[in-house]
Formats: sequence, structure tokens, C-alpha cells
Amino acid sequence: SDAAITLNNGVTIPQLGLGVFQTPQGEETIGAVRSALQAGYRHIDTAMIYRNEESVGEGIRQSGVDRRDIFLTTKLWNDDIRAGKAREACYRSMDRLGVDYLDLYLIHWPADGWERAWEQMVELYRERRVRAIGVSNFQQHHLESLLAMSGTKPQVDQIESSPQFVNQELVDAVHTKRIDVEAYSPLGGTGGSLLSDPLLARIGEQYGKSPAQVVIRWHLQRGVIVLPKSTHAERIRQNFDVFDFALDDAQMRAIAALDTGRRNGADPDHFDF
Ligand code: A2P
Repeated sequence: SDAAITLNNGVTIPQLGLGVFQTPQGEETIGAVRSALQAGYRHIDTAMIYRNEESVGEGIRQSGVDRRDIFLTTKLWNDDIRAGKAREACYRSMDRLGVDYLDLYLIHWPADGWERAWEQMVELYRERRVRAIGVSNFQQHHLESLLAMSGTKPQVDQIESSPQFVNQELVDAVHTKRIDVEAYSPLGGTGGSLLSDPLLARIGEQYGKSPAQVVIRWHLQRGVIVLPKSTHAERIRQNFDVFDFALDDAQMRAIAALDTGRRNGADPDHFDF
């Protein structure tokens, strides 16, 4: 079964969630969300900019799983950050999702104006429209600015992390601040070659698991929240079947040694969107 993490405000979050980045609006997203919830996932991670919030909401309703049993995250996009419109953006996201609260709302990127957006997120949190708030793509220096200016700590920082781009220094720095880490592109991202590394196949053979399952297990054992993405029902199910084996320390280290130091996604210190 699933594992849970207790965030720094006492809210619990399932450690494994379905990511829906680049999953297109319509039947693909509806089906992915429905399959995930039917397979036992209770955590879905979307964003305004993925443009599939309506379909995520529809998938939740079609699954028959109670909304209150699902941990639902969405994110505030950069245009709304720059415009100082966090509150309006949050309401619009909830409308599209068809829900009256969010479990987690994140500042998607440290775009100009994020400091003001953070104060608006804190208000939404105090008003209980969102059960937890956080940031994404924040480097250590962004987090330090935030902590220096605000009395309210984020519950999470969602960052790129995988065996290909481990990002361990940032992971450790975030954990040291008692903030949880969520790993995006945990399998190396779309179009990546990580999953074809023979080390992962070799380790997987020992447990009857696929490379993707080995990587997801690696994330769980290092204590991060992990958000693998797939549009295929069979892979979605497979990615949740990771609670019946454990990697040993040597395997954990060998997987971390696949680190190339190269990101799959954009650099949070130099992005232009
Ligand atoms: P697809 O959506 O076609 O299944 P990340 O989570 O790091 O962003 O990586 C997701 C990529 O890995 C996607 O391209 C996804 O493709 C693929 N993927 C997800 N789960 C599996 C799996 N169990 N086996 C192989 N590939 C997978």
C-alpha cells in the first residue's frame, strides 16, 4: 500500500502521486486520472499551465473516489504571479477542477513578483481555501529570501530530481529547512534515456521489477515525494506497484551515481517564460 509523509503543518500527503505534465486535455487526462485512482493512487499533481485541469476534475469524478480522499495539487502560473493575481488564479483553477478547496497550491516558478504572490497564497491558506502552500523550482537562494521575508514557511518545494539529475545539494538544503521535496521528472522526464540504463534493468531483475519501478522505489527510500507521469494505464498501475520490495544501500548509491548533473527541464535561475 501507499506511504504517507506529514508536512510541516501537520497535513499528510501520499508520497507517490500521478503527474500530468504534457498529458493533453480530454480523454487522455481523464483516463490517466481515472486509472490512477482506480489503481490506488490518492494524489494528483497538475498545474494551470498544463491546461488539463478540467479533465483532471472529470477523471476524479469518473473514478468514484471521494474528493476528500484525494490529495490534489495545482500551480500558479507565471503571468498571474507577475500580475499579482494569485487569488483570482486560484479560484479559476478550482472552478476548472470542479472543487471547492485545494490540498496544495504552488508558485510554479520564481517569476518576478513571486514575493507578493506568496503573501496572497498565505491569505488563501489562512482562509482555508488551500490546505497547504508551497513553491516550485525554487533554488536555495529563493527559499532563503522567502524565509527572511515571510513568517509562513512553505510546506514543499517541487524541483527536478531523478537519478540523471539528482540535485542532492538542493534536496538536502530544503530538508534542512524542514520543507518537503517533491521530485518532478522523477524518471528523467519526457524523451529521456535514463530508463534504458542497464543498471536499472539489472537491479530490477533481482526483484521482478521494471527500471521505472526501481527508480520510483529509489525516490521513496530517499524520502522525497515522487510524481511519475504516464498516459498509459498499464504503466500507471505498474508505477504504483512499488511497495513490496526494498533496495539495499549499495543499490541506492549505485542509482545515485548515474547523476550526469544535466537537467531535463528549464534552469530556475535562467528561464524566459
Ligand atoms: P508515457 O507517458 O508515454 O508512459 P517523468 O515522470 O520523469 O516525467 O517521465 C515520464 C516519462 O517516462 C514519460 O515519457 C512516460 O511516457 C515514461 N514512463 C512512465 N512510466 C513508465 C514506465 N513504467 N515504463 C516506461 N516508461 C514510463
